[in-house]
Amino acid sequence: MNNRLKELAELVEENSTILDIGCDHAFLDIYLVNKDKGIKAIASDIAEGPLEQAKKNIERVGLEDKIETRLGNGLEPYTNDIDTLIICGMGGRNMIGIFKGHMRKIKNVQTIILSPNNYQEDVKEFLCKNSFYIDDEVLVKDKKFIYQLIKFKRGKKRYTKRQYFFGPINLIKKGNLFEEYYERELQSKEIVLQLLPKNYRLKRRKVQKEIDLLKKELKK
Ligand SMILES: C[S@@+](CC[C@H](N)C(=O)[O-])C[C@H]1O[C@@H](n2cnc3c(N)ncnc32)[C@H](O)[C@@H]1O
Repeated sequence: MNNRLKELAELVEENSTILDIGCDHAFLDIYLVNKDKGIKAIASDIAEGPLEQAKKNIERVGLEDKIETRLGNGLEPYTNDIDTLIICGMGGRNMIGIFKGHMRKIKNVQTIILSPNNYQEDVKEFLCKNSFYIDDEVLVKDKKFIYQLIKFKRGKKRYTKRQYFFGPINLIKKGNLFEEYYERELQSKEIVLQLLPKNYRLKRRKVQKEIDLLKKELKK
């Protein structure tokens, strides 16, 4: 279990019934069920290989009666008894693709916990415009990478561009990891801007705006 998955497990509420989409090895589900006896987990994956590995890992620790495995794409394995969705270690656009057109189907879901590898702002904006708000956020360092963990709850809140970009809870918590994460974002966006051809006007304008936002927040 790495730091990223351990911190993510902290965001899961007691006695939840979770669907872990893209479980791969199912380490998270095994950890959660061992940690909180009230948690019921369904580990799912689109690919047979990872799901077979998940099954083996679950059997090895004797938790096959506590963790169910289901093969399927995105929300295909969803059933109405599930109240918490978890997706981590996937691209943000893939996550949005999983939810798009299926928000009615997940009407019993009260909590969504995500850790997108990229396009985090788009993911936040999509879910907050589709009946969820941001309840908690954590930045976690694992080896040399810093990951965003975002917990959504069912409900409605309005956010500004700055809040979508940095995360409303991250902006309250701040701290060293916040500085380090957004300092790296600033550096990578400055490189992107240098590499973007001059005729990519719209894209250049978007990146420049993000650089301005970052400089203002980091007081540069
Ligand atoms: C990088 S692994 C992440 C594993 C684990 N969640 C973690 O964070 O350590 C991504 C997993 O997501 C699965 N996956 C990708 N797209 C998916 C989809 N649309 N539905 C279900 N699983 C998917 C892949 O097969 C892979 O096992």
